Amino acid sequence: MNNSSILLISSDDKIVTSVGDVLDGIEGARVSREDSSVSQLNGAAVEMAASHDIVIFATDPSNAADLTAIEVLTDNRGENTVYLALTDGDLPLSKARALTRAGVDDVLPYPTSDDEMVEQINQWIAKRRAVIEEKFTGGGAVGKLIAVQQARGGIGSTTVAVNLADQLLDRKGRFKKEATNKVAVVDLDIQFGTVGDFLDVEEQEGLLQLAAENFLPDVHWVEQSLVRLPSGLAVLAAPQRFAPLESLQPEQVEALINVLKSMFDYVVVDLPRALVGWIEPVLAETDKLYIVMDMTVPAVRASRRLMDFVRADNAQLPIDLVVNHEKKPMMLRDHHREAAKALDMTFNHWIGDDPKAAREAVDFGKPVSEVSGRSELAKSIAALAKSTLAELPKDQPAVRVQ
Ligand SMILES: Nc1ncnc2c1ncn2[C@@H]1O[C@H](COP(=O)(O)OP(=O)(O)O)[C@@H](O)[C@H]1O
Ligand SMILES: [Mg+2]
Repeated sequence: MNNSSILLISSDDKIVTSVGDVLDGIEGARVSREDSSVSQLNGAAVEMAASHDIVIFATDPSNAADLTAIEVLTDNRGENTVYLALTDGDLPLSKARALTRAGVDDVLPYPTSDDEMVEQINQWIAKRRAVIEEKFTGGGAVGKLIAVQQARGGIGSTTVAVNLADQLLDRKGRFKKEATNKVAVVDLDIQFGTVGDFLDVEEQEGLLQLAAENFLPDVHWVEQSLVRLPSGLAVLAAPQRFAPLESLQPEQVEALINVLKSMFDYVVVDLPRALVGWIEPVLAETDKLYIVMDMTVPAVRASRRLMDFVRADNAQLPIDLVVNHEKKPMMLRDHHREAAKALDMTFNHWIGDDPKAAREAVDFGKPVSEVSGRSELAKSIAALAKSTLAELPKDQPAVRVQ
């Protein structure tokens, strides 16, 4: 969605009105006005400016107080904020240079024709978007999508999705703090999703907005909608309010998945239990599907049905079963062998039953690696992550020719 937040700072009513009107006419722009001169801006206003996409302020560069204030403004610059000075069109070059030296990105002459101003600002909006796109997309690398599905409710698929995502960060270095991989976990169980609870992230309205308004998500929308944890893990949680499952469109989900793959090395998706229409675009992009199950007859049968459903349209999709609540046995027992036969699969992944660690992780709202790193649960998920990384090495960005 093309929306940019623009802040206009001026103590001159005429400028606030005339320039403000021009800005209001820019498509997708949300304009706020700060009735103040740059030199009068207080700390809070400087900080607020940094949360806008574009900050436009009227200034007179002959005024030393203004220049100092501009330095303060740009020293506290938002990571992706563009600062534009609005100033007398007859300004000598040396004065304009003083503004750029003070950290301003560009100087807009005033007064100028409305069209010219719109064009200049639109150019900056486009430039800023291109910079963000470059920064957040992996230079052409395509991330790997891992989907997690449950054979029955409460089996532990969200536990697996969240903790697998956490372990896919593959932390290295002192105190294991530096993530090797960029990873996102996405809660597509938009009605009953609990990823946010598991990671102590507030419900997010992003997916609800997506379901309610029919737009295609892009890098900017995704960046605004997700939350990044201190570990580096990006989380797109389910909304608090109820979103009808079918209100998400397959094209929207497809776009979402593609954008996520351009931004992250690994994207882990917690799937809803219902097989809604937009599951297909997810499966079409999935590099690995994990079905979390246990050895009970209903779970084995449900796994079989799920695999048949998935394979009907995605014959090549690699599927693995994750047996939860059970440590890998030294030797398969009869019921294991019968299940393997019924599923025509081997069991490659086992996660031991570990209520204490599982409970602690949920209570703290943290991945199990952070609350009980040596637990059975943490170790089995680490093994699952290791196997995933070995099977799906991350895509390297294409070498760019300068
Ligand atoms: N290996 C395990 N050992 C013990 N408890 C677990 C294990 N895996 C999950 N749990 C617990 O089971 C409950 C349901 O897990 P959850 O991941 O929400 O299931 P699902 O997403 O499949 O409905 C949670 O309380 C979770 O902490
Ligand atoms: Mg769940």
